[in-house]
Amino acid sequence: MFETLDMAPPDSILGLSEAFHKDPRPHKINLSVGVFIDDHGRTPILASVKEAERRLLESEHSKGYLPMAGLPEYDRQVRRLLLDGDTDRPAVAVQTPGGTGALRVAADFLQGKFPAARVWCSHPTWANHPNIFASAGLTVQRYDYCDAAHRQLDLDALLKSLEQAAPGDVICLHACCHNPTGIDPDEDQWRQIAELLSRRRLLPLVDFAYQGFGDGLLEDTLGLRELLKTCDELLVCSSFSKNFGLYSERVGALTLVAREPHALASALSHVKTSVRTNYSNPPRHGAAIVATILGDEDLHHVWQRELAGMRDRIHDMRRLFIERMRARGVPHDFSFMLQHRGMFSLSGLTHLQVDELRSQHALYIVGSGRINVAGMTHDNMDRLCDAIAAVFK
Ligand code: LMR
Repeated sequence: MFETLDMAPPDSILGLSEAFHKDPRPHKINLSVGVFIDDHGRTPILASVKEAERRLLESEHSKGYLPMAGLPEYDRQVRRLLLDGDTDRPAVAVQTPGGTGALRVAADFLQGKFPAARVWCSHPTWANHPNIFASAGLTVQRYDYCDAAHRQLDLDALLKSLEQAAPGDVICLHACCHNPTGIDPDEDQWRQIAELLSRRRLLPLVDFAYQGFGDGLLEDTLGLRELLKTCDELLVCSSFSKNFGLYSERVGALTLVAREPHALASALSHVKTSVRTNYSNPPRHGAAIVATILGDEDLHHVWQRELAGMRDRIHDMRRLFIERMRARGVPHDFSFMLQHRGMFSLSGLTHLQVDELRSQHALYIVGSGRINVAGMTHDNMDRLCDAIAAVFK
């Protein structure tokens, strides 16, 4: 049977990483996959994580299964991080393997219980969003997001396209640090989006993969808070890959928010079915690290400082990149990237330029022109700027 198969196309992000690792050129630079590196080019294990692991190693005494919804303490801490003390709101955080796991569990839940719901994704969005929803059997639509040059949010177009959604449809939103554009709505724009969702009876599904990478842990819940004010029900898919640097541990959560406890309990029971049929129950280690850090005041502070350090480094790299490109006299102004938040920016580089950067200069960027700013360092900056300047000649 396998002999009848053609090769599947490589994944537009992780496929590039595979190609990067096989590339023998010593001067290669990877600005494709969204992974943070420090100025030495390493993806570090945070000190708060190391300390939490040390404590866990001492205190852990069983490798028994976790409940389908995961660790109860993790549920408590994730809700605290998202809802900032709004304990009255009926909510539960289900531990999942990564943010992708949360999205897939959410997608299976929606497809099983609300098969007519269409899922609306921003155009552009994270390349894996439409794939996850479609492979769960849901119909995917897209809504307008930014202007043609990817410089700013086009709120009118966004609202206009969401008016086309039918009551009961699901709207996938990026809580902050929009992937791939780096463009987030401001407070007033979030208010208008939330008002439309509530008025049209649309269900927000908020992808929260970069909490703390925008302006701060609490600041980055700006959009979520607006949605919580007006929408009765929400799904939030968190990833702790980036903000805890726990990429390989696969730590995420699907948080359900409802209007009243009975509805929450019903929804949770169906989400657990979706967990059971996917992977039965989640892996413990990464979530135990996160719960340990968030549940300990000192570790929480250490982690917040480390997170601020990552955020500041990315911002510094944005500034340096823009400055160095300007110094090269390239006929393309990159200064708009300074307004962007998080790891990514849609740079405006074309497919042709991206191909040339990879083949001629060993510089890896996603085909859409999305640049992972967190992959830039003081050491690789001049080389990458020279390469980009060369493809403009
Ligand atoms: C990205 O967009 O690069 C990250 O979210 C990693 C991934 O899985 O694609």
